[in-house]
Amino acid sequence: TKAPVTVTVTGAAGQIGYALLFRIASGQLIGPDTPIKLRLLEIPQAVKAAEGTAMELDDCAFPLLQGIDITDDPRTAFDGTNVALLVGARPRTKGMERGDLLEANGGIFKPQGEAINAGAADDVRVLVVGNPANTNALIAQAHAPDVPAERFTAMTRLDHNRALTQLAQKLGVAVTDIKKLAIWGNHSATQYPDLFHAEVGGKIAAEQVEKAWLRDEFIPTVAKRGAAIIEARGASSAASAANAAIDHVHTWVNGTAEGDWTSAGVVSDGSYGVPEGLISSFPVVARDGRFEIVQGLDIDEFSRERIDASVNELVEEREAVRKLGLV
Ligand code: NAI
Repeated sequence: TKAPVTVTVTGAAGQIGYALLFRIASGQLIGPDTPIKLRLLEIPQAVKAAEGTAMELDDCAFPLLQGIDITDDPRTAFDGTNVALLVGARPRTKGMERGDLLEANGGIFKPQGEAINAGAADDVRVLVVGNPANTNALIAQAHAPDVPAERFTAMTRLDHNRALTQLAQKLGVAVTDIKKLAIWGNHSATQYPDLFHAEVGGKIAAEQVEKAWLRDEFIPTVAKRGAAIIEARGASSAASAANAAIDHVHTWVNGTAEGDWTSAGVVSDGSYGVPEGLISSFPVVARDGRFEIVQGLDIDEFSRERIDASVNELVEEREAVRKLGLV
């Protein structure tokens, strides 16, 4: 067996935490032969609930699970951690302005970034799930100057997976028949799911669907899926979000298949006109344990407009957190 991997999950007592922890402990995050040590970070009021989840984890007798630590202190939570899943965040409540939301989340992601900088393992990989995920990731990254910026990522894999199924159902094909789909921009309603490079049976997906469907159904359905789930379930998407977090890290560590790519919010190197330093979703391949932005794609006018709109929103969010002194 391999050396154990320490995985820290913040917001461990929340809905996504409950759907995520059992899958991590069962070996789905890294692989079936890698032991796991779990660290659960919660706010003091929720530590007891996290302890309850830990009791259930114990009761699963997972062969790979080598221990569970629970804490309300970020320094303890991230000490020596290899994989940090930042799920806990401050939700937007009624009447809350965006500035207030960003400030409240700054109060969470700044100290967590500092704690990762201070104590995480040299190979630490960070995935931010808590919204606004891209900008929360940017805040954490800005406070971890000793960690390579590329280790901070934001989750758009759920959007990617949603888009895969929408397209598969439209064309009557299996999700595995679809390659090279991509989500661009922000994990928000402005995100752009791109079918102009996606391939189904070796042919471009956008050419196999009506333009009106692509523009008026596919894009809004993917972008507004979170709200549709809340409307239907009376609760937000938790199991599918947890599943996407598992997929994101598993791909990061184990790589993308030859001839395919995935989507992730990664630090921009200026590719495709996305301002350097922003954490934006791109088509990415994972190779040798690293995400790389896919280069050289032609972006037509339809896509350009939509990528720009989402990236502009990210620029505005960065401006807002700059004004707050958070980056
Ligand atoms: P939840 O409200 O059930 O759980 C959040 C947990 O975080 C709570 O237990 C809370 O006590 C904890 N928490 C708050 N501040 C914390 C801190 N400073 N340190 C540690 N823990 C803290 O929410 P749920 O459903 O689990 O969702 C979590 C986040 O994920 C939300 O921000 C949600 O918007 C986001 N999300 C992101 C998705 C994506 O695709 N990127 C998809 C779905 C949800």
